[in-house]
Amino acid sequence: MAEPLLQVKHLSVVFGKRKSAFKAVNDVSFDVCRGETFGLVGESGSGKTTIGRAIIRVVPAQQGEIIFDGQRIDGRISKELDRQVTSRIQMIFQDPMASLNERAKVDYIVSEGIYRKYPKAQREKLVEKALNDVGLLPEFASRFPHEFSGGQRQRIGIARALIMQPDFIVADEPISALDVSIRAQVLNLLSDLQKARGLTYLFISHDLSVMRFICDRIAVIHKGVIVELADTEKLFKHPLHPYTRALLSAVPLPDPISEREKVLTVYDPSVHRYETDLPRWTELEPGHFVHANAAEEAEYRKLLEDE
Ligand SMILES: Nc1ncnc2c1ncn2[C@@H]1O[C@H](COP(=O)(O)OP(=O)(O)OP(=O)(O)O)[C@@H](O)[C@H]1O
Ligand SMILES: [Mg+2]
Repeated sequence: MAEPLLQVKHLSVVFGKRKSAFKAVNDVSFDVCRGETFGLVGESGSGKTTIGRAIIRVVPAQQGEIIFDGQRIDGRISKELDRQVTSRIQMIFQDPMASLNERAKVDYIVSEGIYRKYPKAQREKLVEKALNDVGLLPEFASRFPHEFSGGQRQRIGIARALIMQPDFIVADEPISALDVSIRAQVLNLLSDLQKARGLTYLFISHDLSVMRFICDRIAVIHKGVIVELADTEKLFKHPLHPYTRALLSAVPLPDPISEREKVLTVYDPSVHRYETDLPRWTELEPGHFVHANAAEEAEYRKLLEDE
């Protein structure tokens, strides 16, 4: 496997204090390799955005480590490293209507991250280039966000990330808020940019059918815990954890007849008996990890042998 650009080790994030403390992310570990698209999938409230926000350092890690390009970036870091990380790791947000400053013009929005770094003339050139890179016209620079469609606004959000010359992008549900007709265009743009610039993506979504199409590997998260991680095709062929199986059963099938007759699996967390036999993060076959206790591990191994 390629060298990891980002390593997340035993990350936990807690919101609130003492009695009201809530563990939104619980002992999560994964690596993202250079140039890959790593997917993080799970239902609403499972902690996906929180993991992304911990990586861009806007929420603190309560436990664990985040290592980027060999250097630890969680907790206190030097000013110089902070400057590097702030530019090398960028985030694209779910809702292009809410994530752009309505009162600022596009040229300011796109160049905000480099505002103090370059003089005006140079900034204008960089904005023009960034807009061009995402398929927008240079004259859009002097307009306001409300003048654009959802897809165009998401392109502005992508231009704002690109101008920083990142190598790692956290794409947090970048197409969920868009019309179905323009989703593919934005996905293709992200994929072209990845190829052209060797970008690495952490792609967050709750939609497995989209992820199958673009992710190299997928981690499945449920209530702050990653329950399974595997190569995309492996996960689709041999899902082991009952939550992964339930998520996959909800993916629409192309054939309308089998789709109509399909039985949805409902995930029931009480199937896990974790009183004495505690779960661990276990690699069952190369690259295929599952959150399981000893009894479940034996059961999953049998499933893999039978298939
Ligand atoms: N700043 C915060 N303060 C308190 N609780 C928070 C905060 N941010 C997130 N949470 C809680 O942490 C949990 C995980 O939230 P998160 O936004 O990471 O979920 P998500 O998987 O991204 O969901 P969605 O698919 O809806 O975007 C939720 O229960 C949420 O209410
Ligand atoms: Mg979210």
